[in-house]
Order: sequence, then structure tokens, then C-alpha cells
Amino acid sequence: MRKKVTIVGSGNVGATAAHWIASKELADVVLIDIIEGVPQGKALDLLEAMPIEKRDSYILGTNDYADTANSDIVIITAGIPRKPGMSRDDLLNTNHKIMKDVVAKAVQHSPNCILIIVSNPLDAMAQAAYKMSGFPRERVIGMAGVLDSARFRAFIADELKVSVENVTAFVLGGHGDTMVPLPRYSTVAGIPITELIASERLAQLVQRTRDGGAEIVKYLKTGSAYYAPSAATTEMVEAILKDKKKILPCAVYLEGEYGIKGLYVGVPAKLGSKGIEQIIQIKLTAEEQAALNKSADAVKELVGVIGV
Ligand code: NAI
Ligand code: 2OP
Repeated sequence: MRKKVTIVGSGNVGATAAHWIASKELADVVLIDIIEGVPQGKALDLLEAMPIEKRDSYILGTNDYADTANSDIVIITAGIPRKPGMSRDDLLNTNHKIMKDVVAKAVQHSPNCILIIVSNPLDAMAQAAYKMSGFPRERVIGMAGVLDSARFRAFIADELKVSVENVTAFVLGGHGDTMVPLPRYSTVAGIPITELIASERLAQLVQRTRDGGAEIVKYLKTGSAYYAPSAATTEMVEAILKDKKKILPCAVYLEGEYGIKGLYVGVPAKLGSKGIEQIIQIKLTAEEQAALNKSADAVKELVGVIGV
């Protein structure tokens, strides 16, 4: 039987994720939104592209959660994106209200699904969804680290003029200004980038990664990034549906790992058919651990405001 992925929110990230998922033939896709007509129109348009793409994914647009029933994965992208001058944190209260509405409906119709949360502020929204869903932590995962790492990888590949395929990079922590890119664990064909890029230049690439979301918002003016975010979400979907056991940085509810308890923070995790199958604990220097703790404190402050 074909897999089924529901995407809540048919805006830029949601519709583009539908595009990637369908064109990779990973699953049938249900696009749902509060706005009438938009998910139907985008889904039909994508469906009509499938004969050209030679893909048999079925894409349905709807406003009715009954159509989402028994999804294997539900991706939540519903919410408002940021505009120039806004931080991800400015979206907190509006997106929390939306999250409450959509998570309840989604899990009612797909009680066994894996939830991938995308809406911002990411870590706080993942924590809200985790608490609301009543799901085990393995089945509520936040997408941010794959995106932040991809940005870092793109900048490293461009700097060294090497294939992006040669570059691995890790970004830990919350999806915000305090995120923690880890140059020590980032490599080009196995060579640590600390041996290939001078430290002052590396510091600039790290800062550009931290500012990666804002850099795009500044250009777009009316919204935020969506190609790389939806590609990152699709990589997580593929790892789960194909049971790849792929290690990716994901926002996960930590229960003591990395010395952090009761909080969603980005860490390396193994993704497979059960969702988060293992949290990988890597050794951090005192400085890296302090940066991770600072990032966790920023998430803690937000979850405190919404009381989740
Ligand atoms: P968008 O504005 O293009 O789309 C959001 C969609 O959600 C709209 O179509 C809207 O009608 C819908 N929506 C609002 N309330 C809803 C409800 N109650 N039920 C169903 N649908 C509802 O925004 P975009 O660019 O797609 O971004 C979506 C969210 O993802 C934002 O919060 C953004 O900040 C976040 N984001 C997170 C990233 C990450 O790395 N975690 C990366 C990129 C975006
Ligand atoms: C980004 O990093 C807005 O969180 C989104 O592009």
C-alpha cells in the first residue's frame, strides 16, 4: 500500500514540500489549509504535473480533516511566517493558537502518525505539539537542524569550490539566533573544515548560517525561505518512510541527554520508520556545551511564555 503524508498549511513551505515529496514518489500527499480553494488548486496543479514527471503520487487538496485519516506522517507548516524586522520568536502566540487547532484535528484522524513540526518558533511549537498530541517523543519531531546544516554546507561548498556532496556539517541547538554550528564536526571528504578554512573566515560562515533565515527574509520582504526548508522536511520524510536509519539533526524532546531535560532542542538523531530511533550523544567541548545550554535557555524562555 502507498504511504500517505498530510501537509497542514498549503502555503510556501507546505506546497513546496508537497512538490518534492510527490516528485520523489515518496507517498500520496494530502494538502490541507484553512483557506478554501488554495489547497485544492495547488494539489490539482501538482497532480497534473505527475504524468510529465512520470510519478504516480496522488495529491489531494482539502479543508476537511477526514481526508487526512490514517496518514503515516503529518507535517505541520500552518502559521504565519516572519516579515523583515521580525524574529521567529515574534510569531509565538499566533502560531501557538494555530498549532493547538491543527494538532488536535490531525492526531484525531491519524492517531498513529509521526508528526513533523515546521512552524516557528520551531522548538517551542514542537514542544506544544508534543504536549498536545499525547504522542511519545519518538513521534513528534521538529525540522530545523537539517535546514541550518544545509545552509552551512552550501556556504562551505561555495567557499572551497567543492561538491556539496563532499560536505557534511552539524548545527545543534534551537532554531534561532543562538543555534550552534559545530565546525569541529563538519568535514569535506572526511577532512575537518577547521583544517581547510581559516578561523576568521569560518567564523563568518558560522554567523551567516545563524543569520540564514533572516538573509532570505530581507530579500523576499513578504515572507521567509521555503525551497530549502521544504527540501529539508522531505529528507526527514524519506528517512522515515524508507526506514533509512539516517542520522540527521532534529529537534527532539530531551530527557537528560546533553544535560538538558524536558525541552525540545536540536541534536543528532537516527530517523527510521519509528521516528526518532536513537539520540546520538557526541562529546562537546566546554565552550560548545555552554553554547548549547544558552540555546536551550532561549527555548525554555519561549515555552515558559506559552506554558507548555
Ligand atoms: P505561508 O504563509 O506561505 O503558509 C502558511 C499557511 O498556513 C497559509 O496557507 C495559511 O492559510 C495556513 N494556515 C494558517 N492557519 C491555519 C490553520 N488553522 N489551519 C490550516 N492552515 C492554516 O508560510 P510559510 O512560508 O509556508 O511558513 C510556514 C511556517 O513555517 C511559518 O511559521 C514559518 O516561520 C515556518 N518555517 C519554519 C522553518 C524551519 O526551519 N522550521 C523554515 C521555514 C519556515
Ligand atoms: C528560516 O530559517 C524562517 O525559520 C525559517 O528560513
